[in-house]
Formats: sequence, C-alpha cells, structure tokens
Amino acid sequence: MRVLVVGDVVGRPGRSAVRSLLPRIVEEHEIHFIIVNAENAAGGSGITEPTARELFEAGAHVLTTGNHVWGQREAFGFVDREERLLRPANFPDGAPGRGAGVYQVRGERVGVVNVQGRTFMQALEDPFRTAEELVGRLREECRIIFVDMHAEATSEKMALARFLDGKVTCVFGTHTHVPTADECILPGGTAYITDVGMTGPVDSIIGMQPKAIIERFLTGLPVRFEVARGKAALHGILVDADERTGAATAIERIRLTQD
Ligand SMILES: [Fe+2]
Repeated sequence: MRVLVVGDVVGRPGRSAVRSLLPRIVEEHEIHFIIVNAENAAGGSGITEPTARELFEAGAHVLTTGNHVWGQREAFGFVDREERLLRPANFPDGAPGRGAGVYQVRGERVGVVNVQGRTFMQALEDPFRTAEELVGRLREECRIIFVDMHAEATSEKMALARFLDGKVTCVFGTHTHVPTADECILPGGTAYITDVGMTGPVDSIIGMQPKAIIERFLTGLPVRFEVARGKAALHGILVDADERTGAATAIERIRLTQD
C-alpha cells in the first residue's frame, strides 16, 4: 500500500495547491491513502468545515492538525463530530475531538495518530506515553499505522520515532513548514522524516507575508500576520507499506510547484 502525506496546508494558496496538484500525484504514483496536515488550512490558522470539505473532495482521507487546531473558534463543534479530522491526542481531557482513528480503504485498515511535542510549545500531556498507548490500542485493529508528530524540536520528533520504531509504519514531523532531507527507514522498519514541509505560498516566510514577520522580529510588538499570495508548492512524502507486517519498505520526498 502506498500512502501520501501532504505537509501543512496554509490558507487559500495551500488549498489551491492541493486541488490542482493532488490529482496529478495520485495518478502518477498510484496512491491508496492520503493524510493531509490541515491545521492552517483556514485563513492561515485553524480549520473550518468548508475548508476541510475542500480537502476531502480533493482526495484527502484523513486530516491531522496541531497547535493551531483551535484557530477558528466556530469550528470546535466540527472538530468534535468529524471522525476524519484529528487533533493532537495529548490535549487534556475535555478538549473536543479525537487524536486517533482507524480508516478503511480498499479492504485495508489504516490507523492514524496525531500528537504534539512539548519542547518550545504548550505543555500538553506526554506525547510519548499518549502515542504508546494509542498505538498499542490501534495495533489490535490494524498493522499500518501513521503518526503525525507535530512539533518544533527536531530531537523530540526523532526521539518519538525511535521510541515507536518497529511498532508503526511511519512517524512524520509537521509544524515547522520547512522540509528536512533526512527521510529514512529506521532499524525496526518505521519510515521517518523530521518535517514534511508545507503546502503553501512559495514567496513567503513559512506561508506568511514576509513584511509583517520581519516587523515582529525587529520590534517585538504583536503584528497581524497575513497569508502570502502567489503560486504555492506542495511538499509531501510517499511511503510504501507492507500490508502483511505494517513495516515501511520505502519513503520518498516530493515537491511540486504550481505552474
Ligand atoms: Fe503548528
């Protein structure tokens, strides 16, 4: 089975890149299952029902998120009821939504887990113990399991991947919006990349208009960020999984830019 993971979709340009580029990727690579990190899909922060629908219609099977999942307040109810939308599982009890799920595709079950790191980020519950427990539960139902580790620190992402090596098909990092060149298959058979990168405007600072970001670094004042305009790039990974064992057999980075 071949799974495509699409990196953090940023605002309208990111959604436009998914709509225009995803069909081409699916056709060229014979993809069976698509996971899209969509925490910034709505206006550059958060997710709404219409933006999620746009991504599902473009081919996404599951949407994962991260620290910006609550960026659109009106979407709390939607996060709670849409089973194909995940938020980090290590949010405290009482937060709406869910952090893991099992999805059926072509008679095969795929488990997806979403957790968030704590280094230089909000102090949530332990992502290691949370992921360990969820993976243990999912393994009773499926062999192919993907984990979105939404985190800032490269070491924390690597540590989670090594911690879960041999128990899941793939641990992929999201959040920084900058792809890393360290994709590999770990000794236990788990595919890994520190960051998938973003799907958003090329002429930007991690998806936002550069002027305001530079202004904030220069002055330290709160500045309103706007999603940058122009053509977008899609960053992703393709992972081949052995259905019998759940181990990864290949991982490849992809980058496509709109014409
Ligand atoms: Fe994030």
